[in-house]
Amino acid sequence: MNLDGSGKPEIETGRLVLNALEMTDCARVASLAGDKRIYEMTLLIPHPYEPHHAEGWISTHPGHWARWREDWTMNFAIRSKVSDELMGAIGLVGVPRHKRAEMGYWLGVPFWGQGFMSEAARAVVGFAFETLGVNRLEAGVFDGNEASAKVLRKAGFVEEGVLRARFLKDGKFVDERMFANLKPASCTS
Ligand SMILES: CC(C)(COP(=O)(O)OP(=O)(O)OC[C@H]1O[C@@H](n2cnc3c(N)ncnc32)[C@H](O)[C@@H]1OP(=O)(O)O)[C@@H](O)C(=O)NCCC(=O)NCCS
Repeated sequence: MNLDGSGKPEIETGRLVLNALEMTDCARVASLAGDKRIYEMTLLIPHPYEPHHAEGWISTHPGHWARWREDWTMNFAIRSKVSDELMGAIGLVGVPRHKRAEMGYWLGVPFWGQGFMSEAARAVVGFAFETLGVNRLEAGVFDGNEASAKVLRKAGFVEEGVLRARFLKDGKFVDERMFANLKPASCTS
């Protein structure tokens, strides 16, 4: 993990750079997150997704970055290390009082199935445990989202149970499968 010029964390993996989203990313976010296949597996992404939705979302980020070390709440752009193009996003919502955070993510459809989210998720898990001092990372997956369940398992998460009919999405109740990853004893912070 490095800090950028304004003190925000920047995480590098083999093929990716995870860093802050900028207002200049709005059109690209809208075009990638606007795919209905992303809407179908997520709770907070609207459909249709317009650039103003991205503007509203990204405009909340500077406030989060100002307190990322205290609140553990932040969103990273997932960018290609080679081309710098935005591919998706991954974020944390922290509950520092309980040393806990929830992780969420989406990846543009053209990049699916190439191991990118597994790579990004592992990196954010390391950052959460080692840099932030998170003890418990959580993530919830709609029943049927096998790709996301696999991403989580590959990043060290264990399935803890199913919350039945947790969400009402498009007129149908959806079960949520809950996963968590506890900080290994070997992590120092
Ligand atoms: C879930 C998502 C992030 C996965 O990203 P990805 O980069 O394609 O995932 P990976 O390539 O790292 O694949 C992870 C595993 O899932 C498998 N996988 C991919 N698509 C799958 C599918 N439709 N069904 C079952 N397994 C699938 C991959 O083969 C891989 O397993 P492997 O390593 O054993 O081969 C992406 O599909 C996405 O953004 N979906 C919509 C939004 C979403 O679901 N967000 C998460 C909400 S909890």
